[in-house]
Amino acid sequence: MSEFQKKAAYNVALVGATGAVGETFLNILAERNFPIAELKLLASKRSAGKELTYDGKTYKVEELTHDSFEGVDIALFSAGGGRSLEYAPSAVKAGAIVIDNSSAFRMDPTVPLVVPEVNPEDAFKHNGIIANPNCTTIIMLVALKPLYDYSKIKNVVVSSYQSTSGAGALAMEELENQARQWVNGEKLVVDKFAHQILFNVIPHVDSFTDNGYTKEEMKMFNETQKMLHDTDIKVSATCVRVPTLSAHSESVTIETVDPISPDKARELFAAAPGLEVIDDTANAKYPMPLEVAGGDTCYVGRVRTDIARDNSLTFWVVGDQLRKGAATNAVQIAELFVK
Ligand SMILES: NC(=O)c1ccc[n+]([C@@H]2O[C@H](COP(=O)([O-])OP(=O)(O)OC[C@H]3O[C@@H](n4cnc5c(N)ncnc54)[C@H](OP(=O)(O)O)[C@@H]3O)[C@@H](O)[C@H]2O)c1
Repeated sequence: MSEFQKKAAYNVALVGATGAVGETFLNILAERNFPIAELKLLASKRSAGKELTYDGKTYKVEELTHDSFEGVDIALFSAGGGRSLEYAPSAVKAGAIVIDNSSAFRMDPTVPLVVPEVNPEDAFKHNGIIANPNCTTIIMLVALKPLYDYSKIKNVVVSSYQSTSGAGALAMEELENQARQWVNGEKLVVDKFAHQILFNVIPHVDSFTDNGYTKEEMKMFNETQKMLHDTDIKVSATCVRVPTLSAHSESVTIETVDPISPDKARELFAAAPGLEVIDDTANAKYPMPLEVAGGDTCYVGRVRTDIARDNSLTFWVVGDQLRKGAATNAVQIAELFVK
């Protein structure tokens, strides 16, 4: 057991504590009884002095600076890529393990990219920073892994239905505000998305790249290959923002080397960690974001043989992207080091 693992409790810094993911982190650390000695809540200058509650105790938010990490064992970053690039090296220098929720380090070959249900062993190859994958990719990978272990997957075609909280706390508020404005007959204010999100779907998550895919869609391609250690698997994603508050849904079609029947797939899904099956179409039972939000489990349903291609299977997967897609996954990574 390492010196780090021998500690009874850890000094934890939460960077981006006032955000949508930061708030979720506070809930999850408490729910999972994470062994915290001291907790430091960090955000921008704007939030310095703001009070947040953790496990019944009130904490004052401090401004993030390069000196914020003295004595910190674990630094959980969720304040955007710019902050991660600038401040994560300071945290590592101070001796902390950084678990980063942004995309800043995900494709850096020296930084492990980890979903504990998929590739926990990679976490131990870190040089101070471990990256938490993209939320939509995490949810898809939790479902793909048991199938992939049964038969190699050649390619994946996926369409996502991503909730507004995936773009942050203010984006989720924008949907609520637009609903209120619509009811009151007021002009709808559009700020966080390229278009009105109320009563709409927007096939545009993150910015567009030269090949016509968005950065979010390319994250699904690149991060899947990195975590499965398989540069042959190809992912074609269309990422879509929908007017839900929390939890991302995905329609996934895979082509495998060996055929997988729907019954076999349901059996593999049911035995996999972090995953449950809701697939009772006769009774209109399938996973939906309203029911899945607030939990850590990803749910699959609508499992069927794809009729358009050979050796292909189609299914639907839903997971809470603030929890399993971000904070829960990061805390699970931290738990690999404290147990
Ligand atoms: N939302 C999701 O579903 C999700 C899922 C996976 C990963 N992520 C990633 O997690 C990160 C946070 O996302 P979020 O959705 O929680 O965003 P958010 O709700 O907009 O929160 C952003 C957080 O970053 C802090 N911040 C912004 N500028 C800062 C600065 N200059 N110095 C220090 N702190 C600063 C904010 O503090 P103030 O309140 O003081 O501005 C706030 O705490 C992003 O990298 C995002 O890509 C998000």
